[in-house]
Amino acid sequence: MNPARHLVLVGPMGAGKTSVGRCLARHFELAFVDSDQEIERRTGATVATIFDCEGEAGFRTRERDVLADLLAGPDAVISTGGGAVLDAGTRRNLARGGFVVHLHADVPAQLQRLARDRSRPLLARGDRAPILARLATERDPLYAEVADLVFEPAPAPAQDAAQRLATLLESTWRRGTLAAATRATQEPAA
Ligand code: S3P
Repeated sequence: MNPARHLVLVGPMGAGKTSVGRCLARHFELAFVDSDQEIERRTGATVATIFDCEGEAGFRTRERDVLADLLAGPDAVISTGGGAVLDAGTRRNLARGGFVVHLHADVPAQLQRLARDRSRPLLARGDRAPILARLATERDPLYAEVADLVFEPAPAPAQDAAQRLATLLESTWRRGTLAAATRATQEPAA
């Protein structure tokens, strides 16, 4: 059991991190925050514009800083961008402050979920299947390094997948906390 304050979702583009994360936040009555949306809120620019103006390196610096702030902030369900695990400091922070779920998705599932999406700069040019396969080869070991749990959401709709994952999390991430909270409400004050 990992008694981390935050529940953090990592995994590739199109795995459903944002939609599953929102449902989990509702289930655990926690705030939900998506690191890409937080970067956009802070900068007033889209992820695509940041990639255009500052390159991928500039975006990664912002992503690392936002995640460090979120992990130091109030308890939350945090959805991360697919490349967040590339940063070694972020991986260390995740290991310290989060119960990390790797939402897995294979390339066909990603292609299907992202078919109409035009917002991901890494998929803007070239054939998507080999790009996604290359990213998976590079990043799968990093997801494995930080993950407390690996979960396959597809092919269920996000809400059903989140319900299944929430049940698993009740007996892994939250077991200690919930048991302690129940004891605290049942035991008379000393
Ligand atoms: C990226 C994934 C995106 C976003 C950016 C880069 C990546 O987030 O952070 O386009 O490197 O895989 P999602 O995983 O939420 O799509």
